[in-house]
Amino acid sequence: MAKVTVIGAGNVGATVANVIATREVCSELVLLDIKEGLSEGKMLDVFQTATLMDFDTKVTGVTNDYAATANSDVVVVTSGIPRKPGMTREELIGVNAGIVKSVMANVWKYSPNAIVVCVSNPMDTMTYLALKDSGLPRNRVFGMGGALDSARFKCYLSKALNANSNDIDAMVIGGHGDTTMIPLISKATYKGVPVSDFVSKEVLDQVVADTMVGGATLTKLLGTSAWYAPGAAVAYVVESIVKDQKKVVPSCVLLEGEYGQKDICIGVPTVIGKNGAEKVLEINLTAEEKAAFEKSADAVRKTNSLL
Ligand code: NAI
Ligand code: 2OP
Repeated sequence: MAKVTVIGAGNVGATVANVIATREVCSELVLLDIKEGLSEGKMLDVFQTATLMDFDTKVTGVTNDYAATANSDVVVVTSGIPRKPGMTREELIGVNAGIVKSVMANVWKYSPNAIVVCVSNPMDTMTYLALKDSGLPRNRVFGMGGALDSARFKCYLSKALNANSNDIDAMVIGGHGDTTMIPLISKATYKGVPVSDFVSKEVLDQVVADTMVGGATLTKLLGTSAWYAPGAAVAYVVESIVKDQKKVVPSCVLLEGEYGQKDICIGVPTVIGKNGAEKVLEINLTAEEKAAFEKSADAVRKTNSLL
């Protein structure tokens, strides 16, 4: 069974660890943070739910001790500062790029064969940084953003249709930013039927707008960015890797000509399995969606240029 490490024991990292442990996604789970005692405390707390939640995952919390993370199959990177109300994800780049670079040096030293899932924001740029620095093929380092944005999209759609969210299928591609993400209304379905058969364009436009500011809405309410849905979205991706589920998840992957783009990590539908981001799926986009994708890629490139 697999070993998973989560770097950063803050709101998102600790939630990822909690979901992974309780769902027994792997046999061994390590949580690491630079704050003395934080990971140890979080993992002890999670461990004390084992008999209540009925799980048997071996959980360990460590303070900056990368030796304990050695030979992880999957490493999730959540270390870095989150956004405060009014801040964009892009504004986090200065601090988080330094953190991601130093963390990745240790990750590769101790787990040279790991699949890495980047979460720290601005996630598309942090993924690009981590992948380029590694020199590895694109399947090994990719980012999580689309799984979360798609989950939010499905929730808003289910409310608009007054339907069970599990009967909705929908995805968000493009950058993981308030103005760069692209909720694909043309592909959204309710029990296989286009959602536009059930609700008006005005209602769907509002769903798209709400989805795009989904993260900002929570940041305003909470004073920091969200963690339950982000944590569950990361765990969903990790489970697909560890159990080789080959789920199609919109993920931030290096494009090598797909969608007319190169040298950029951005959200596209991707098959996620034991080798990480195994296959990029090129789906047909409407002319409007294609234009939005190009605009999104331009914005992500602009943030990348700040590295
Ligand atoms: P947080 O502030 O609660 O936790 C961050 C943790 O990282 C802190 O405990 C901090 O001590 C730790 N850390 C900082 N430098 C470190 C280092 N060098 N090594 C190890 N740990 C280090 O923040 P939160 O809410 O957990 O968010 C984490 C990141 O994830 C943020 O950048 C946030 O914007 C991003 N995020 C991304 C999402 C996505 O969909 N990609 C969704 C939600 C958050
Ligand atoms: C979110 O979407 C801020 O990326 C973070 O909640």
